[in-house]
Amino acid sequence: MGQVKTLGEFIVEKQADFQYSKGELTRLLSDIGIAAKIVHREVNKAGLADILGETGDVNIQGENVKKLDIYANKQFIAALSVGGECCAIASEENEEVITVDNSVSTSAKYVVALDPLDGSSNIDVNVSIGTIFSIYRRTSLSGPGTLEDFLQPGTEQVAAGYVIYGSSTMMVYTTGKGVNGFTLDPSIGEFCLSHPNMQIPKQGKIYSINEGNYVHFPDGVKKFIKYCQEEDAATGRPFSSRYIGSAVADFHRNLIKGGVFLYPTTSASPKGKLRLVYECNPLAFIIEQAGGKASNGSKRIMEVTPTSLHQRMPLFIGSRDMVEKIEELLAKHSIPAAKAAK
Ligand code: AHG
Ligand code: MN
Ligand code: MN
Repeated sequence: MGQVKTLGEFIVEKQADFQYSKGELTRLLSDIGIAAKIVHREVNKAGLADILGETGDVNIQGENVKKLDIYANKQFIAALSVGGECCAIASEENEEVITVDNSVSTSAKYVVALDPLDGSSNIDVNVSIGTIFSIYRRTSLSGPGTLEDFLQPGTEQVAAGYVIYGSSTMMVYTTGKGVNGFTLDPSIGEFCLSHPNMQIPKQGKIYSINEGNYVHFPDGVKKFIKYCQEEDAATGRPFSSRYIGSAVADFHRNLIKGGVFLYPTTSASPKGKLRLVYECNPLAFIIEQAGGKASNGSKRIMEVTPTSLHQRMPLFIGSRDMVEKIEELLAKHSIPAAKAAK
């Protein structure tokens, strides 16, 4: 085996890519890596510790909160609060923005948005789950971070990434200069560079969608599903259907193998289910950096300016040709909103 490169070494090496960088982003990414290791440790003994199941609470999204959601939330908030690089944190589990106390004295210039535990429904059944994060430069000039700091379009992201707690634990991130993946070697407790410069195939052979909601999908999405199921030698159809139910895990597989993940509007979720700020935007930044595409059906995800912290958005993300096919079918078959309103 050749020389391994740890996440810490890699981040420091890449700091030179950013002129005037004083190492704050380096520190933030390292802090996220540390929290990820702590959550990894807990996830891996979840069946033994008293950490499975629900807390009995319902979060602001109306979802049952799991103990591991809260555990992961606490770990990431704690790790991001100590360094003084981050002046505010937004999390799926907290209705309001969390301001970081010591950030005023240290003039922290970043804010971090988080889905601390993605794929909650898979916690109790030993199926892959994840963490998603997105880092912005604050727009407010001083004092504690504000809500407005988070309501920036995804194009303004400085860095984004995810951790997948799967058959192995990995951290994948981008700072806008390509995508790199690191696998946790539990024997030395370090994330090691295992997937340098990740690129998604232009055309994939996998589609990922909760097909149980079929009757509630827009016509364009129904047509795309039928398109995937048709026989066509030239494009290798029919495609395979794969759906884990953890966005991070479905995304990660499609990033490596080529494919598309769809979470359209449904009657239960008329605006889509996934959250723009801490689910759609970070994954969109990563997929674009890997040569793929992320759309809400008609618009590039990263160009949508959020109007609220927990805003939901339809998401079509993955191999470029597949996302473009979905956009084409949605434009052709779905009733434009203006017409539908009449
Ligand atoms: P979270 O656990 O953070 O609330 O996210 C769950 C999301 C996402 O991970 C997944 O793709 C999707 O919900 C699954 O939704 P369905 O069960 O409706 O398919
Ligand atoms: Mn999630
Ligand atoms: Mn979550």
